Amino acid sequence: MFKNLLATKPIEPAGHVDAGEPFEGSLEGEATLKRTLTGTQLILLGVGAVIGAGIFVLTGQAAAEHAGPAIMLSFVIAGIACAFAGLCYAEFAAMLPVSGSAYSYSYATLGEGVAWFIGWCLVLEYLFASSTVAVGWSGYLNAFLSNFDLALPAALASAPFAVEGGEFIRTGTLINLPAVLIIAFVTGVGYVGITQSAFVNGIIVAIKVTVILLFIAFGAQYVDPGNWEPFIPANEGPGRFGVDGVMRAAAIVFFAYIGFDAVSTAAGEAKNPQKDMPIGILGSLVVCTLLYIVVCAVLTGMMDYRLLGTPEPVSTALNNYPSLGWLQTLVEVAAIAGLSSVILVMLMAQPRIFYSMSRDGLLPKLFGKVHPKFHTPYVGTVIVGVIAAVLAGFLPIGLLGEMVSMGTLLAFATVCAGVLILRRTRPDLPRPFRVPAAILICPLGVIACLYLFSQPFAEHWRLLLGWIVLGLLIYIGYGYRNSKLRKR
Ligand code: ALA
Repeated sequence: MFKNLLATKPIEPAGHVDAGEPFEGSLEGEATLKRTLTGTQLILLGVGAVIGAGIFVLTGQAAAEHAGPAIMLSFVIAGIACAFAGLCYAEFAAMLPVSGSAYSYSYATLGEGVAWFIGWCLVLEYLFASSTVAVGWSGYLNAFLSNFDLALPAALASAPFAVEGGEFIRTGTLINLPAVLIIAFVTGVGYVGITQSAFVNGIIVAIKVTVILLFIAFGAQYVDPGNWEPFIPANEGPGRFGVDGVMRAAAIVFFAYIGFDAVSTAAGEAKNPQKDMPIGILGSLVVCTLLYIVVCAVLTGMMDYRLLGTPEPVSTALNNYPSLGWLQTLVEVAAIAGLSSVILVMLMAQPRIFYSMSRDGLLPKLFGKVHPKFHTPYVGTVIVGVIAAVLAGFLPIGLLGEMVSMGTLLAFATVCAGVLILRRTRPDLPRPFRVPAAILICPLGVIACLYLFSQPFAEHWRLLLGWIVLGLLIYIGYGYRNSKLRKR
């Protein structure tokens, strides 16, 4: 069995892929995914996935409770870890333009056992992230509606379960209804097709980037450099300010970067993946990192960092300045639209990973079914949508977010290791993009990701282990018996 777990999926050089030509074969002669996405659309897809609840919701609390004005530094640290991982993703995605992302890369390098494990971690990333952001979306929607006295009662707008001291407790509410509804709507968009989805996504990305630029331009005029002093407030206990707090905040705001890797799951639908994958992945990462650092500088310059710990920190900072009232409403609208596009990309990525796993026989065939008209993995899309809606309707944002970060960091660390391993085992493969100084960058990527991982893991290790055991049972019960690689 051990030998089987280590079996790697043979890879062949991708060759050149033309627009319209499906790279992956179809399951039993059914329709396949269509190659329609350009480099610019891929950058938009990445930015659409990345800018979301991280900057609009989590930044304020991370600054107020952990890092102070040095939240800028926390973003730099998390950004560096992501840059290492982004370079490794770019090498893989250009070389293996398939829709399975880190799952496919580890299948080719580290064996079926690790591939399954990573595929299972990616479920934490994409499926749980769409639920996390949907909960954030619900909060912004309700805040916006309350401007017109239309807010939903708490019983219908927040999770009925919370976690306290590692135990689930009832909160007395019924369901987070807006979170469920936004997932249902976005699932519908994902079902209809990737071209349409990329179009909707493009519009939303334009709105949120414009509003962020407006916030930077107008907010900068109200910055008081005195608010940046002290840059790193003195430590007040574990994870509270000081260098320790900056690191804790880095682990929290890491969530803000999640999503650039979702670009790689669209590799099967890119027109020219060899060239456009690195552009899409690294381009979106650079754009977002720059925007984040400047937004944090303006945010912490506009008001005392201690007052930013609200669910809508950007709006809170603007609230201080009556002349910027117009911008505050605009920010709320952009956050509502912007968070929807994050949910969209996440909900598109997850069924595509299931699609790849199903093609390999590790998941039932129905996840590999492609819609004859829309060319989307429609059954997987609906199943993912239903599960994401249930999670969003019943669980709190904090727990969901921590699970997402842990799954993602494990996947990133594996991808960084995988690049180095494949360089040794298959040096012959053509690599349209190569990680520079891989011997240094890859190990640094692994260390940085595992360091950030260790922070939420210390608190939530029981839940993560439970998740891994569940995945193991599914693998033993289905994947191990049906793996196409093993059958061969
Ligand atoms: N990076 C995404 C966000 O911040 C997941 O919402």
